[in-house]
Amino acid sequence: MAKVRILSYPDPKLKRVGKKVTVIDDAIKKIIADMFETDYGTQNCAALAATQLDFDNPPAITVIDLSEKKNEPLCLINPVITHSEGEQFEYEGCMSVYPDHIHERVKRAARVTVKALNEQGVEIEFTAEGYMAKCLQHEIDHLNGLTYLDRLSPLKRERILDKIRRLRKK
Ligand code: NI
Repeated sequence: MAKVRILSYPDPKLKRVGKKVTVIDDAIKKIIADMFETDYGTQNCAALAATQLDFDNPPAITVIDLSEKKNEPLCLINPVITHSEGEQFEYEGCMSVYPDHIHERVKRAARVTVKALNEQGVEIEFTAEGYMAKCLQHEIDHLNGLTYLDRLSPLKRERILDKIRRLRKK
């Protein structure tokens, strides 16, 4: 296993779309192991999408662990949202967007149903709400080449982009 570099906004690679996984072979298993290694080896990291890591041709995979003890790993392959309802408006941060400096509230669905393959290639479907629902939407956005900045109103985004420009000069 190896830690992989987390891409930092505005790296154009963050716009890549995750490649659909057709076979869970050794290469994919290695990527998943590296993703968990990177997640657990990075402070305050709850989840990562392959597209925000410096992989060539990143697959559509996200790893998530929201537990305090970091002992509830969840790996989702080719995740898609099949149903969403309600609304929440909570703070988000991103390991690729100055995680120690920038957090902003983002409008998301309150509940989502997600379909994916697990690490064994078995199709799973489940419904989540609250923090987990927010996290799933954030990660699936990454796999479609979006960061949470793309979900902000133009005014808020401009304010955050200003802040990012100032941070980058430092
Ligand atoms: Ni993120």
